[in-house]
Amino acid sequence: MATINDNYLKLKAGYLFPEIARRVNAFAEANSNAKIIKLGIGDVTEPLPEACRTAMIKAVEEMGDRATFQGYGPEQGYAWLREKIAAQDFQARGCEVDASEIFISDGSKCDTGNILDIFGNDNIIAVTDPVYPVYVDTNVMAGNTGAANDKGEFEGLVYLPITAENNFTAEIPSQKVDLIYLCFPNNPTGAVASKEHLKAWVDYARANGSIIFFDAAYEAYITDPEIPHSIYEIEGARECAIEFRSFSKNAGFTGTRCALTVVPKNLTAKAADGSDVELWKLWNRRQSTKFNGVSYIVQRGAEAVYSEEGKAQIKELVNFYLENAKIICKKLTDAGLGVFGGENAPYVWVKTPHALSSWDFFDKLLHTCNVVGTPGSGFGAAGEGYFRISAFNSRENVEEAMQRITERFTT
Ligand code: MLT
Repeated sequence: MATINDNYLKLKAGYLFPEIARRVNAFAEANSNAKIIKLGIGDVTEPLPEACRTAMIKAVEEMGDRATFQGYGPEQGYAWLREKIAAQDFQARGCEVDASEIFISDGSKCDTGNILDIFGNDNIIAVTDPVYPVYVDTNVMAGNTGAANDKGEFEGLVYLPITAENNFTAEIPSQKVDLIYLCFPNNPTGAVASKEHLKAWVDYARANGSIIFFDAAYEAYITDPEIPHSIYEIEGARECAIEFRSFSKNAGFTGTRCALTVVPKNLTAKAADGSDVELWKLWNRRQSTKFNGVSYIVQRGAEAVYSEEGKAQIKELVNFYLENAKIICKKLTDAGLGVFGGENAPYVWVKTPHALSSWDFFDKLLHTCNVVGTPGSGFGAAGEGYFRISAFNSRENVEEAMQRITERFTT
């Protein structure tokens, strides 16, 4: 008799975004005239930059010619893309990251989940609360947790609350943890981490032999020049951190799929016999066994992000969403709501008005304003009473959504 991975039964009913989609679809079916504006899932809306499209069209043509056709590519990604990333995203910021330490993939979501393949099941794992749900759910699936309590917290995980009191940046834990997920600019709160804050984490990780999983998928949204874009801007981070990056939010590749993970060559963790094992070798082994790389066409599109036109077009795209975030922050602040984030991130974290629960506010917003956001409690117990609004939409829709919300909820 075939059996299942019972860990899946521990998961809460559904992944957050499909649950939102379910409620929105039910509402839309019952209210076919409602013009619903979606500021929920952080999915981009604006077209791919021209530089990327042109590069991809050229790559398609190359695939149609025997002389330039490409079959399987290198599992780690093409060197011409990795070299540009190493030079422009890392070395230009003083980070010592070599092209050989970069692995191209089809998404940071996949990588932050898949990375658990190379780690043991006996690690103590810390996540912030609220948190990007993928970090928690993939640990549940991997059998790294016990059951959830009625607040939705899984036994065995260390939850680090991020609140308005600590500027949505977790306190360094007093206990010892082995794996730590950090996401800056933060999803869902839109908070950023200073160099000092990241240094405290790097110092902690080095002192405790811990590994930091640093999710920098939103780094392109950093406007404050004092805020680090990469954990490798912090001295010693090569000895304790893996970084995840994406082309989804800077270049609009959510549907096109391209991302990258940096695993420094000198980074190690312990084998059962106590020896130090290089994580780069394990990740390389994992990727070359379970992954055949991102398509040539898409990698050519990603490469164009690093051309002069590409850089200018991406800046324009990011600035467009940042302007949306600014409008959201201003309108909601003027309406008397408590508003966080949105300055160095495409997410605005809002205190729900009239002490409504996150899901009650979600339902009210959907039913009375026909606007969709994301309930803060979907990101963890400490997100209760908060609501995330994404800046990914057209200007017209953002303005219209803000008008509807402020008319209904001005306090
Ligand atoms: C979100 O809304 O949090 C995003 O969709 C996260 C992601 O990129 O998967």
